[in-house]
Parts: sequence; structure tokens; C-alpha cells
Amino acid sequence: MNQKIYPSDSLRGTLTLPADKSISHRAALFASIAGKESNITNFSQADDPQSTLACLRQLGVPVEQRSNHSVTIKGVGRSGLHTPDKPLDCGNSGTTMRLLSGIVGGCGLEATLSGDKSLNQRPMRRIIDPLREMGVEIEARKGEYAPLQIKGRKENTSLDFTLPIASAQLKSCVLLAGLFGTDDTIVREKLQSRDHTERLLNLRIEEKEGSGRKIFSNNQVQIPEQSYRVPADFSAASFWLVAGAIHPDAEIEMTGVGLNPTRTALLDILNEMGADISVYNETNEGREPVGDLIVKSSSLKATNISSDVVPNCIDEIPILAVAMLFAEGTSVIRGAEELRHKETDRLKAIADIFTKVGASFEVFEDGLKIQGNPTFIPERARLDSYDDHRIAMSAAVLTLLGDGPSLIRNAEVAKISYPTFWEDLQTLVLTN
Ligand code: S3P
Repeated sequence: MNQKIYPSDSLRGTLTLPADKSISHRAALFASIAGKESNITNFSQADDPQSTLACLRQLGVPVEQRSNHSVTIKGVGRSGLHTPDKPLDCGNSGTTMRLLSGIVGGCGLEATLSGDKSLNQRPMRRIIDPLREMGVEIEARKGEYAPLQIKGRKENTSLDFTLPIASAQLKSCVLLAGLFGTDDTIVREKLQSRDHTERLLNLRIEEKEGSGRKIFSNNQVQIPEQSYRVPADFSAASFWLVAGAIHPDAEIEMTGVGLNPTRTALLDILNEMGADISVYNETNEGREPVGDLIVKSSSLKATNISSDVVPNCIDEIPILAVAMLFAEGTSVIRGAEELRHKETDRLKAIADIFTKVGASFEVFEDGLKIQGNPTFIPERARLDSYDDHRIAMSAAVLTLLGDGPSLIRNAEVAKISYPTFWEDLQTLVLTN
């Protein structure tokens, strides 16, 4: 689908955002190995979490999905998963592949995990090495890419693992495999990435100033039932937070948004840049903080982002780069080389798009230097989504301020995380 974007005079309205993708994956995965039935409400309808549900069904987990977006999962316990009769299709979802590898490998099943063209080119060595150290027999295409063939577990070895990269998927993979071992598996992290796994499994954590966090898992951990409402996705909110802040006539409200501090660095960064954002009605959904947000047209100034905050805005960097184009002064993003290993090489995709709309910037191996200008008017352009949901949505926000209609190719990819993105955009443009 080609999506035409018309610059709009105003952006106004209240949105009900899609459910959080990271929490939906985890709710389903953890519910499946819990001993009880879980009732998850507001489960994400986006393609990625639906890939997780499909894989769980293939593993023999009873999953019932209702039209009101609630999902009932009858947990089969740690030893109740079945050997699937065909490869598990993880679609475009890195979270499905990396977390499910931890569970399948941990419990000693034989299964092949495969994905679409993009996922089968993303780095898997990061999970293969620790899983092998834990006794999982695993083979990969060219030694490092999916399809991953998990051939069971020779021994059940616990692992004391220091994360070489700040990745919540890697951290979760190892902790999930650790749930099947008698001795403690310990994951040590210096920079804290999103902590949904630790929260939702209620894992033991030790934290010392200066030496980072230690997270523990073993087969004594009681896997809690996952009966709660999934918050709205902060990463989805981020597109509208930036759109509202950079647009000269905007007021956008979003309710029930996940505000886990390991996810909301974009909020702090935008506030520091001078954005007019209010957070109110703060409460909790299950083990996760949530709140309502309102963003209004703002005057932004430039800022710098370094490696210590990158893990807490890893998915928001493309849209933050858009915000920086409209901020007074020069902004710099460093320490973001992980962006090159996402659904597409996101630094390259941003650079291509910025070139096409006439922006002033420089790209590095690990970031960007962006010359901002509050009166910048992007040139109309034909842009590609690079088959990456977050690039498609970032391009849409950028071209809303363009000098004429722009076009985004393969825009349907937004449904990987945000199935109603294009409808929500229409709502904001049409509401007066
Ligand atoms: C995710 C972790 C992040 C993020 C991805 C979702 C998760 O990936 O980019 O969209 O749910 O754990 P990494 O852990 O690879 O950084």
C-alpha cells in the first residue's frame, strides 16, 4: 500500500493507542508456561504479538482470542509444551524469536524458529552463544542467522552472564532459559534496558551503585498468572508526542499509556528540549505504571543523546531524529549502533529519508548529527518504509509538515506494532 500524506493545518484529538507490544509478547509467553489460566485484556492486535500467539498454539498451548481484544491462555506449566510438527513462524518479530528460543531451548524441546526475510537476516549469535553455554543444542544458518534449529538440551547448565549489549531481548532469552535450571542463572547488566520480564515474572534483583543490576532466575521461580490489562504502547505514543510538539497547531491526548521508566527516555528528552507535555492520572496496570498524556505545539531546542540513555529510547530514535530537525540548534545522537540491526538499518533509512526531504545532517556509524531549524519545511518526496514499521510512521510525521503531499511506499508495515496508525492520523487531521 502506498500512503499519501497531505500536510495538515492542525493535529487535534484524543487517541486510544494500540496495546504495548513488548508487554503483550511477554504476557502471552509467560502465561503459556504458568501453571494456571491467564486472562489478558487489551492484548495487542498488531502482527508481532499475533506471531507469538500463533507460535504458542503450534507448541500446544490453548489460546483463545476474543473480539474485545482479550486473550485467555491455559498455562501448560514448564514441562507441558509440545514438539511442533513444523517450523515456528516468528514473522517479523525479533522479540518472538529471541524470547521463545529461551523457552524452547530451556525446556529441551526440538523446534525450528524461522521468520520473514528481515528477521532471518538479524543477528542471532547474541542468543546462540549463551544458550549453547547453558547446554542447548542449537544450529543456525551461516552460524548466526535464523532459521534456528533447536535440537534439545544436552545438559541443564546455569549461567552467570554479563550482557555484552544493552538488549532486553537477549536479557530475557537467558533469564527464560534459566527458569528451567535448578541453579541460579544470573544476568548482569550495566545499562538497564526495558525491565518488563523482571517485573512480570517478579524475578529477584540485586542492585548496587556503580556495579549495575543482577537478575536471577531458576526453576523455583513461581511463574505468576498474567491476568491484567496491557497498557497502551508508549512507543506508539512517541510518534504523536513528536508530531504534537513540532506541529504549529496541535493538541493530542492519549490515555492509559505505559510509563515504565525503562521505556520513557523520549519523554525526558522531549521535556528537556522544551516540549509542552503533561502527564496525569498516573496509576498502575498489573505491575506496570501507566498515565495519560497531552502534548501541545512547542518550541524545541537542540539536545544530545549518548549511549547511557539509548537503551531506554532505542525504538524511539527515528522519531526523535525527526523532532531534532525542528529544534533550534544542532543535536547529536551517539552510541546508537544497535539501530543498524533492527527491522532495517534504521540509521541508513533515516539518512536516506532526510536526504530526500532536504534536511541538513551527518550520519555516523553509531548515530547522527542533525542541524535543526524550527521553520524547516521538508520537501515533498516519495519515500520508502524500508519494510520497517517505525520508519514508516516516522516518515509520516515528518512529511505532515512538508511543502506538499508526499508518498510512503509499503506503508501497511505500520501494522507490525500499530495496526490503526493511518486511521489515527486521519482522526487528528480531521478533528477541529
Ligand atoms: C524489545 C527490545 C528491544 C526493542 C524491541 C522490543 C523487547 O530490542 O528494540 O522493539 O520487547 O524486549 P533489543 O533488546 O534487541 O534492543
